[in-house]
Amino acid sequence: SAGTETQSADRGAFSGRTAFIFAAIGSAVGLGNIWRFPAVAYENGGGAFILPYLVALLSAGIPLLFLDYALGHRWRGSAPAAWRRFRRWTEFLGWWQVLIALIIALYYALILAWATNYTIFSLDQRWGDDPAAFFGEYTQALGGADATISFDVVPAVLISMIVVWLAVIVVMALGVQKGIAASSVVFIPLLVVMFVILVVRSLFLPGAIDGLDAFFRPNWGALADPAVWIAAYGQIFFSLSVAFGIMLTYASYLKKKTDLTGSGLVVGFANSSFEILCGIGVFSALGFMAQAQGVAIDEVVTSGVGLAFIAFPTIIGEAPAGALIGVLFFGSLVLAGFTSLISIVEVVIAAIQDKFGLGRLSATLWVSVPMAVVSTVLFSTTMGLPLLDVMDKWANEYGIVAVAAVSTLIVAYLVRGLPTLRDHLNHHGTFPVGRIWMLCVAVIAPLVLGVSLILSTISLVT
Ligand code: PHE
Repeated sequence: SAGTETQSADRGAFSGRTAFIFAAIGSAVGLGNIWRFPAVAYENGGGAFILPYLVALLSAGIPLLFLDYALGHRWRGSAPAAWRRFRRWTEFLGWWQVLIALIIALYYALILAWATNYTIFSLDQRWGDDPAAFFGEYTQALGGADATISFDVVPAVLISMIVVWLAVIVVMALGVQKGIAASSVVFIPLLVVMFVILVVRSLFLPGAIDGLDAFFRPNWGALADPAVWIAAYGQIFFSLSVAFGIMLTYASYLKKKTDLTGSGLVVGFANSSFEILCGIGVFSALGFMAQAQGVAIDEVVTSGVGLAFIAFPTIIGEAPAGALIGVLFFGSLVLAGFTSLISIVEVVIAAIQDKFGLGRLSATLWVSVPMAVVSTVLFSTTMGLPLLDVMDKWANEYGIVAVAAVSTLIVAYLVRGLPTLRDHLNHHGTFPVGRIWMLCVAVIAPLVLGVSLILSTISLVT
């Protein structure tokens, strides 16, 4: 029973399991796969990282994915609504997730805007032979941290921010099936095709083999380092988009009769497979870059903004048919990022829609127009780059880790809700869950999350 709150008639629904799986993969596969995983794996044991990575996937990633699915599907609501129907007093967990989603969406759009511009810049390699200086000029973040901070608007960024947000608003207004699912069903296969071509092209670059060798060479000694295990769990949590309220919201749009656990396994393994493919593509390209510059691989490995907007432009400039590599790489970032961005915006739209009983169109407009304005105004200025760093750190290192830890502890111990959720999963899934699943959710996940939180706090104060 849904209780007394307003329940909008047009909440929306996925047409079926395939639509849901594509939307869920679309959310999981994002910037984290392309620009975060390769460097994390390399720095934490190379080929040996696969072990903690798989352990993290099986012992926490997929179990928490199941938890998200069970909460959303059983209580059929956006994050705050589902948590409230679960137990009235846990509604705050949902709003906490909404807040984090809101913050991430504001700056995630900026990276998409940059990637959109850089897709076009790839055609004539507009960055010339100093991509770092070009990026500084492009974002107007000249002089790095010491530069005087101002709010001057950067016109090139402003235009693509408007384009990105208009695309988001249109897709969200079209709704769960015609917007979110339909765009994922088109974009995700397109992304895979583009990325496979990119990987094949990169494999044939001189030096690619050295890059792969550096990426896969196992450093078994790393497995004795707890930090490596924490890094594996961190990557899995971020990459699978668990505990953001996203998977919970998406699961609430599934039909009553559906295969939750089977779908979760597909999503989890598809995301990790794509992630490993990203490692292969990125390290082939980095191997080429190291050889072209006559330096060791170690000196060219980066992640995040530095990898995408400085290292890759360098590679594109030096490689034969670089424009093709550029369009494939930045195009992939745009597709992967877009399907993730709409998933975080959906967390906020669904929450407002459920709270006020709004229709799809009005909820979309009330939520995404103000978000678009704030995001565009804040981030198309010279403040964009420094602001991105700060917000990313707080949202991902603290906000989401804390809500994940607190929510698993509440579900497992304060509410003792796991048996009910387990039964729900077993009534709606081909893959049975039992005591091991409960152990993962109640013990392993909160333990690892708690340790990460403590370690981040220590590194903050020291
Ligand atoms: N899972 C996405 C990735 O790997 C990141 C993401 C996080 C997307 C939070 C949405 C929300 O890039």
